[in-house]
Amino acid sequence: MSIATTDTSAGGETSAGIADVDHVRFPDGFKWGAATAAYQIEGAAGEDGRRPSIWDTFARTPGNVFRGHTGDVACDHYHRYREDVGLMTKLELGTYRFSVAWPRIKPDGTGPVNPRGLDFYDRLVDELLGAGIDPMITLYHWDLPQALEDGGGWTQRSTAYAFADLAAATVARLGDRVRSWTTLNEPWCAAFLGYASGEHAPGRREPRASFEAVHHLLLGHGLAAQALRSGGAAEVSVTLNPTQVRPADPGDQHDLAAAKLIDGLQNRLFLDPVLRGAYPEDMLPLFDRFGAAAAIHDGDTALMQQPIEFLGVNYYMPALVRAQVGTPPNAAYPGSEGIEFTEQPVPVTAMGWPVDPTGLSDLLVRISSDYPGVPMMITENGAAYVDVVEGDRVADRDRIAYLDGHLRAVHAALTAGADLRGYLAWSLLDNYEWGHGYGQRFGLIHVDYDTQRRVLKDSAHWYAEVIRHNGLT
Ligand code: FCB
Repeated sequence: MSIATTDTSAGGETSAGIADVDHVRFPDGFKWGAATAAYQIEGAAGEDGRRPSIWDTFARTPGNVFRGHTGDVACDHYHRYREDVGLMTKLELGTYRFSVAWPRIKPDGTGPVNPRGLDFYDRLVDELLGAGIDPMITLYHWDLPQALEDGGGWTQRSTAYAFADLAAATVARLGDRVRSWTTLNEPWCAAFLGYASGEHAPGRREPRASFEAVHHLLLGHGLAAQALRSGGAAEVSVTLNPTQVRPADPGDQHDLAAAKLIDGLQNRLFLDPVLRGAYPEDMLPLFDRFGAAAAIHDGDTALMQQPIEFLGVNYYMPALVRAQVGTPPNAAYPGSEGIEFTEQPVPVTAMGWPVDPTGLSDLLVRISSDYPGVPMMITENGAAYVDVVEGDRVADRDRIAYLDGHLRAVHAALTAGADLRGYLAWSLLDNYEWGHGYGQRFGLIHVDYDTQRRVLKDSAHWYAEVIRHNGLT
């Protein structure tokens, strides 16, 4: 299946390929929403007993983040959450996906709960419910308490158990009102960008540590899913960032092998244990090669396969690879020597990320056929562009085109039989984009970081219409 990239104007007219369909309607009950993450929006880094996470430490270390930006203030959502929920009602969101900050709830990672930390989420949940918006909580969106990293972080088995305790404490307080719980956000990033390439906190560049982190994150998912379930969670999920990995020449066996390896590291290393209870055969040698095999204990992978109501899929772009002798390994993919990530002949966003909605439809169809029976939800999708504020308006036509094209891809996957339950845009607000600091804007709502003024971009108004119509017109 292939879908032409669409060209959309702010007025909603579309052209080309599947865009010829006049009305794209989604199934009744399809969930619409937007997503954020704690460190990216909350600010209030030292308030009410919160202690540093690995992102505070990483961001404060010169050279790690664009212009030394930190999340100390971010969107000040900690103090402005009421206003922000008010904006969500303008967007007519049905679901709001956010993460809780582990270092607010358990400031040192383990030990007693900090009630003031949970109080914040208690207030936020009530505000959302009062506005008719379903809260969807992610327990780990990368802000590991620094105290745990000081003891080895995700390289340690004990961190997985500490994570399950966080899950138990959080569901105990909020489970009476929150139905939907996600354990991890993108463990690939947490493990490989955090511990192998060092682009993300904690900034380590140790392949062995990255494979240990993969294992303990997935173990943490299994243990936390159990804790959530016994705490009464109605809906449990995990969010991955699977990517459609394509060989540059599908007729070349070396390119095919290159794509298979990257697909293993990016996708199957996470999908297989979560959905099949085992690591893929071709990934196990990498645990051995990098000295991480001892982390795997009997029974661990079976424990990683917990019942989930849906798989969360974060999608931004596909990858194109080819075999090229002599290419050094990509630091985020240990073991990838001899493989080149090649440029894709499509437009790019301000991040330089290729815009290709066919990557999303192909990916969803592929997951459905390789891992049948698992409903999916798009838990993040969106794009950074250079936005210009003119008075009360941001005419972000490129973002609308990106979202339009990707929603058509989601619809095409549905038509092809993929079981998709909803779509959440990344992101509600412009926010702290990790190593890019405040330099990249993904929001439907513009944030002026000097004044904290919020302005709904054209994409926000457009998205509200999509939600209202449960489709594209
Ligand atoms: C994803 C992250 C999210 C945001 C987007 C752009 O990988 O989950 O926090 O940074 O990318």
